[in-house]
Amino acid sequence: MPLPALLFEVFTLLPEVFEPYLQSSILQRAHQRGLVEINLYNIRDWTSDRHHITDDEPYGGGGGMVMKSEPIFAAVEGVLGWPPACPVILLTPQGRTFTQSVARELAFGEDTSVPDQTRRLALLCGRYEGVDERVRQHLVSDQISIGDYVLTGGELAALVVIDATARWIPGVLGDPDGVLDDSHASGLLEYPHYTRPAEFRGWSVPEILLSGDHGRIARWRREQSLLRTWQRRPDLLETAPLSKLDRKFLDHLKTSFISSEAEVSSEATGSDEPAQPPGTS
Ligand code: 6GU
Repeated sequence: MPLPALLFEVFTLLPEVFEPYLQSSILQRAHQRGLVEINLYNIRDWTSDRHHITDDEPYGGGGGMVMKSEPIFAAVEGVLGWPPACPVILLTPQGRTFTQSVARELAFGEDTSVPDQTRRLALLCGRYEGVDERVRQHLVSDQISIGDYVLTGGELAALVVIDATARWIPGVLGDPDGVLDDSHASGLLEYPHYTRPAEFRGWSVPEILLSGDHGRIARWRREQSLLRTWQRRPDLLETAPLSKLDRKFLDHLKTSFISSEAEVSSEATGSDEPAQPPGTS
């Protein structure tokens, strides 16, 4: 078996929660193809006391328990050596926010010029009350959060990170360009998709998609992406790479909105959706 492109070393108190998802998703196929490898380590296996204790009361009092540093250091050091042989990422609500571009960065490294080596990443799942601060200070090289809400532990976040990162590895998706078309990859939301039948309960697929005119279809899709992004996630337009034509279309959307105070004609957008100004939907 050739070396995998991506190797995750996952440190957790709940390895069993990973198995069902990893075995039932596209990740299973990626693993069978030798592209992505995931090793699970139970931190409890590195405890040395009789009761296998992994957490303790916080110094200074207060509620909740804190994950002890000794078993975490012993586990990571036992697997990765010292200093750790790869980045160690703590999953925590205090981390930097995970995005599609962070996923790409994890998949390829900040230097994307050396593709044919295994990328090895360690993921450390904290329980929500927290881990001893010395883990953060002296063991971890990066901290990631998947959004502004609190989970009971980092395990679901680790699965999110594994899934979104693995999708960037060539061969993991059936369609090699899939990840480039995704919502967010272009910096915009994706255009609407339709499949057979052409009419369902009286609702038709937009005529243009049946026209066979690939140039017009591509332009329509681009405009739909721009429209949706403007309606739902106008913040993304600040950083998305936009062509002159894109900007013209957006200007047109804005002026149509201002002149009609309500809707952009479906002729202009090729859509049944009324245009909404940012922040009103
Ligand atoms: Cl990475 N961990 C926990 N416990 N909660 C989260 C999170 C991570 N990301 C968002 N909420």
